[in-house]
Amino acid sequence: MSTADAPVATLTPIEARLELERLASAIARHDHAYHVLAQPVISDAEYDALVRRNAAIEARFPEFVRPDSPSRRIGAAPAEGFRKVRHAVPMLSLDNAFTDEDVREFASRLRRFLGLAADEPVAMVAEPKIDGLSIALRYENGRFVQGATRGDGTEGEDVTANLRTLADLPRTIVGAPRVLEVRGEVYMTKADFLALNARQESAGDRVFANPRNAAAGSLRQLDPRVTATRPLSLFAYALGEVSEPVADSHWHFLDHLRQWGFKVNPLAKLCPDADAVLAFYHQIGNDRAGLAYDIDGVVYKVDRFDWQARLGTKDRSPRWAIAHKFPAEQARTRLKAIHISVGRTGVLTPWAELEPVNVGGVVVSRATLHNEDDIRRKDIRAGDTVVIQRAGDVIPQVVGPVSDQPRGRGEYSIRAALTPPGGDHPVCPACGSHAARAENEAVWRCTGGLVCPAQAKERLIHFASRDAFDIEGLGEKNIEFLWDKEYIRQPADIFRLGEENRVRLQKLENFEGWGKRSVEKLFAAIDARRTVPLERLIYALGIRQVGEATAKRLARHYVSFCHWREAMEAAAAGDDEAYRDLTSIEDIGPSVAADLLAFFAEEHNTTALDKLVAQLRRIDDARAAHTGGSPIAGRAVVFTGTLATMTRQEAKARAEALGAKVVGSVSRKTDYVVAGTDPGSKATEAQKLGVPILTEQQWLDLVKG
Ligand code: IVH
Repeated sequence: MSTADAPVATLTPIEARLELERLASAIARHDHAYHVLAQPVISDAEYDALVRRNAAIEARFPEFVRPDSPSRRIGAAPAEGFRKVRHAVPMLSLDNAFTDEDVREFASRLRRFLGLAADEPVAMVAEPKIDGLSIALRYENGRFVQGATRGDGTEGEDVTANLRTLADLPRTIVGAPRVLEVRGEVYMTKADFLALNARQESAGDRVFANPRNAAAGSLRQLDPRVTATRPLSLFAYALGEVSEPVADSHWHFLDHLRQWGFKVNPLAKLCPDADAVLAFYHQIGNDRAGLAYDIDGVVYKVDRFDWQARLGTKDRSPRWAIAHKFPAEQARTRLKAIHISVGRTGVLTPWAELEPVNVGGVVVSRATLHNEDDIRRKDIRAGDTVVIQRAGDVIPQVVGPVSDQPRGRGEYSIRAALTPPGGDHPVCPACGSHAARAENEAVWRCTGGLVCPAQAKERLIHFASRDAFDIEGLGEKNIEFLWDKEYIRQPADIFRLGEENRVRLQKLENFEGWGKRSVEKLFAAIDARRTVPLERLIYALGIRQVGEATAKRLARHYVSFCHWREAMEAAAAGDDEAYRDLTSIEDIGPSVAADLLAFFAEEHNTTALDKLVAQLRRIDDARAAHTGGSPIAGRAVVFTGTLATMTRQEAKARAEALGAKVVGSVSRKTDYVVAGTDPGSKATEAQKLGVPILTEQQWLDLVKG
């Protein structure tokens, strides 16, 4: 009998060591045959027997467990999840266009930005917008080394092993730059999706709502062997990090992708102008149902790479591309009841509980009703049969009641719904404080502020959410739990949860669903966020009208937390100059400013902020995070006169991307005036105040350096 057949119980230590070595290499070989070559040489049952034998020997001889043991590779993944990958170049999303008019406007925006004549065509490549999930594929010296999901655009998950199981993925490529990151979409064809669901159903496993979910669920399997059984496809369509230029236009880049062995959507088309892309869109719209895969629109990309570079990017999307969406998908269902939820800013939002219905492939059981006026205008009542619509990722909406069905119970009144039986005024359903609708506002609000648990809870959920502090493991459910246990009431409490509070911690571990490991992981995740970029901190505070884009603008303008804080308090205290400086920031008008200052005027807010900051290790300056020490970061710049190499808009966008503040008029606080030809009064003013005046060339040299 060879060692390979000997019962585990009879193995000597030396035999056990040899046998573990043999099994490790055999299992690795079979993994490769299965995942990479897609040509398994043994059956699943035989494979499982090898894995079990390996585990049994390791159990008897734990001292011989090898560093490359298959049990470590297979067993370790599920508990840990995927490794995080930081994208060298952010993975952006796309702005949307819904009408032909939007697309023409996009085309003229491009022309204006680039300073082209009205009749100069801007060629674009039009490609179907595949409804799957985007991924980044990294090749080094022609070998596929890493694949990652988009995640939040900055950081995704390492799904390399799973991607290796895709037949469409080239594993090696010839003639590519040393570093090449190709981006594309993983998707499932409609036929593969139906067949997979049939298989899942007969095996008693979960079925997927649509091909997109099926693709996402299959790619994010912790065991690559499961992914390997799922029929995933891949189209390549974009470039990420690259060590040297690969093409001068998107159209030529697509040629390279094909040569390298990637699948490129065969419908992609080079269009000379806006008319041509619109013709393509309407054609695809007609053919949509007959395509093998789901698409939700058409993407248009400026063809010339030099123009793409000049156009650059905005907060989360490039200026050189747009997604032209197809109209929303609709369905009919019964509206069972109207409920009211309390948002983090106290807004009371009515929402519809629906008889679950499939809308364009997704099962919907809730929809927003926006506000009182909207309900009244559409005359929506509980009990109605209504039309529901879903536009992309947007929360489903109730379009209105259908007229050919019996109507529901009487007219809906939010005032009546908020007034308890026997009560004489409307109250917040969460805290019982007065509910009121301000004169010129469309919404009802709870007046309970921080005493309202729904608001405070929603604020905490927002605070920990992905785009804010991004505390892993602190989602809605866990915040509710910690809130109900009275462990957290405000952001600072999150950071005090573990500190000096062993008892609480131990108590926590005894609660259901909170194993020792998950508690430890949560504390580690919280600790990891004691260092935070300023813009995230500002966004996390949940101030009304201060979304991500505004938070980013504030952070870039004030650069450091201390500056921002001082400026806000000064403005809130009535300092005119501070107020003018605030409203000079793009998109910050009197209304946003009023909300910001209202936040700082409330003492309980500033106290909560102080307590939070005391818990943090560091708040990163906006300059450091974004501009890598650019010489113009934080500087106030005025452009005047006609520039020769770029449009004013382009100059402004570039300066802001490097952290400068571009302002409209010259004052003592201006750092530079950049003067083109015919500069006019601003240059004179600068001279008078002694502000440095740069020529366009001097400016270009400065920002280049
Ligand atoms: S280009 C910087 N091309 O749409 C632009 N995206 O809303 C990068 N998508 O996250 C994207 N088909 O998942 C591009 N032909 C296509 C696409 C496409 C689908 C998805 C992609 C992206 C999302 C943006």
